[in-house]
Order: sequence, then structure tokens, then C-alpha cells
Amino acid sequence: MTKPVLQVIIGSTRPGRAGAPIATWFYDLAVADGRFDVELVDLAEVNLPIFNEPNHPIQGKYEFDHTKRWSATVSRGDAFVFVVPEYNHSFNAATKNALDYLHNEWRYKPVGIVSYGGAVMGTRSAQHLKPVFTALKLVHAGDVSIPLVTLPVVDGVFTGNDVVAKAAQNLLNELDFITPGLMQLRAGR
Ligand SMILES: Cc1cc2nc3c(=O)[nH]c(=O)nc-3n(C[C@H](O)[C@H](O)[C@H](O)COP(=O)(O)O)c2cc1C
Repeated sequence: MTKPVLQVIIGSTRPGRAGAPIATWFYDLAVADGRFDVELVDLAEVNLPIFNEPNHPIQGKYEFDHTKRWSATVSRGDAFVFVVPEYNHSFNAATKNALDYLHNEWRYKPVGIVSYGGAVMGTRSAQHLKPVFTALKLVHAGDVSIPLVTLPVVDGVFTGNDVVAKAAQNLLNELDFITPGLMQLRAGR
């Protein structure tokens, strides 16, 4: 039986970012969990320019190949986990840009957030993402909040601890619970 496709999206794009090792940590847990076909999607590689489509994405009339490629990628996803940093008390611009590019490709799909930052663990970034998800009819499934102060990336590797591993498992459980129902809902449209 085919498994739902879970895309783990690395939101930060700067060289040396903590986002890549944290996303790899979550990706490895999701693969080991075994309930999804898991893909790592790196916004640095997707490399979208600042939104430049002439039409509203709701029309799905895309001019540019970068948008068509991004649309094909997100269309493949049945569920998403955004791995996002906190920049100036919110989520980073590349993540917003990638969300804004599309519309129908996001609708009625479940989404989780793995946020990270200083003492507040990127929670402000997670809270700011939620109204954007609502606008796109993404269905929020849960959060994992990572404090880089006490759980740093060391030599390019994030190992986490039992607390964040449990939160990641809870998120995977929620995603597993709601993804099939939403797939059925979309198939019936
Ligand atoms: C532009 C910028 C703004 C930041 N603002 C915050 C912030 O408001 N709160 C916070 O906890 N950390 C903040 N930080 C620290 C980041 O959480 C930390 O650098 C993290 O590693 C950034 O994610 P990245 O490495 O994936 O880019 C900021 C970092 C940058 C580069």
C-alpha cells in the first residue's frame, strides 16, 4: 500500500543554518516511524525569487518555471512539517515567500511546525505561521519547540533529547491520524 507523502520543509536558507540539521533530525525520526514516505524539501535549493507571479496563486495560472516546479513539489505532498527559525520575533521571509507562491496546492492538507530559537524556542515564529496556514486552509496538527540555548547544533548535527523526540513523535501521531481523512476529503472534491 502506498504511504502518504510527508514533506519536511527546511525554511531557513542561509549558509551554516541550524535549520538543515534540525530538519534532518526530524526527517530521520519520521523515516524510522515508517508511516509516511518522507521527503526533505530545502527552500535554499528550491531557490524561489521574491514572489513575482502576475496572477493570484488561487488561479493556478503560473508564468514562471520556478513556480511550476514548486507547484509540482507541493502538489505531491499529503502532509507538511515546516522547520522554521525565529527571526526578529517571527518566522523567516523565505518561508512566507514559499507559502505565498501557491494556494490550492496547500489546501486541506495537514501541517506541523518544528520551530527553534533562543529561550522562547521559536514559539513566536510558530504562532505567526498559524494565521497564514488558516488563510491557506492548511490544517494545523501540532508543534515541536526547540531551545537552541540548551539543545544546540554541534558540529552540524542536532541530536535533541527525549523531550523534543517525544514532541516529534506526538506530531507524527497527529499527522498520521488526520492525513488519511483529509486525503479522502480532497479526493471527493
Ligand atoms: C536575522 C535574525 C534574527 C533573529 N531573531 C531572533 C529572535 O527574534 N528570537 C530568537 O529566539 N532568535 C533569533 N535569532 C537567532 C536564531 O534563532 C538562530 O540564529 C537560529 O540559528 C536561526 O536559524 P537558522 O540558523 O536556521 O538560520 C535570529 C537570527 C537571525 C539571523
